[in-house]
Amino acid sequence: MANNENIPRHVAVIMDGNGRWARKRALPRHAGHRAGVSAVRKTVETAAQRGVECLTLFAFSSENWSRPREEVSKLMGLFVEALQREVDQLHRNNVRLEFIGAREQLQQGLLEKIAAAERQTSGNTGLRLFVAVAYGGRWDIVQAVRKVADRAVAGELAVDEIDEQVLAKQLQLGGVPDPDLLIRTGGEQRISNFLLWNLAYAELWFCDVLWPDFGEQQFDEALGFFGRRQRRYGHTSEQVEAVSS
Ligand code: FPP
Repeated sequence: MANNENIPRHVAVIMDGNGRWARKRALPRHAGHRAGVSAVRKTVETAAQRGVECLTLFAFSSENWSRPREEVSKLMGLFVEALQREVDQLHRNNVRLEFIGAREQLQQGLLEKIAAAERQTSGNTGLRLFVAVAYGGRWDIVQAVRKVADRAVAGELAVDEIDEQVLAKQLQLGGVPDPDLLIRTGGEQRISNFLLWNLAYAELWFCDVLWPDFGEQQFDEALGFFGRRQRRYGHTSEQVEAVSS
């Protein structure tokens, strides 16, 4: 188990490997995504138990629209089903559920479930769970720039008032502390257009385990890794040690 004093406030996860998990068992890819839902449930429980404040899961990227039509449609169906089945339990556990991504690209049925889940859990004060669907880090920055530009054109903001804080506020996770730790399963070591802006100072933890096999043990390994890192934010280690001693 990780040292309690050093728990990341915000953990972001790229849940990779569902397809390979299914292929290893000679099952259709969709069976891997279904098994992935159980890993999501376990991860949410573990994160809440360990005292993580925010958890952001990459469920469907802007680029995932180019997967075979059948896989995309089954995944969207799975999101609807998972929302239907899991939201009451999340609510009982005081989890606040929110979605980030290009909502206008989603079908009506899913949008309605998302809105209902967000409404139902909006007053909860426990773990904040963000699910990224139709999300891309570059898209996020562009939509934030557009909002800032609108304000500038409307005369509400001078161009030289635009700084990192002004832009960050308009990102999908505006006002939420940046992820301290990024976990990626499935063996690849890349960011894949996830929270490009917000991950600037995150510690990165990669593992070979395929997402459906990810559980408490791996989550604790990632927390242990995080607890051993010295976060410098551009300072020297001597400066960091002077502040913390
Ligand atoms: C990546 O594995 C996974 C996805 C694109 C889908 C993630 C979705 C889930 C875990 C299902 C449920 C999620 C929620 C939030 C209810 P991959 O298909 O790219 O795997 P591969 O690299 O082995 O092919």
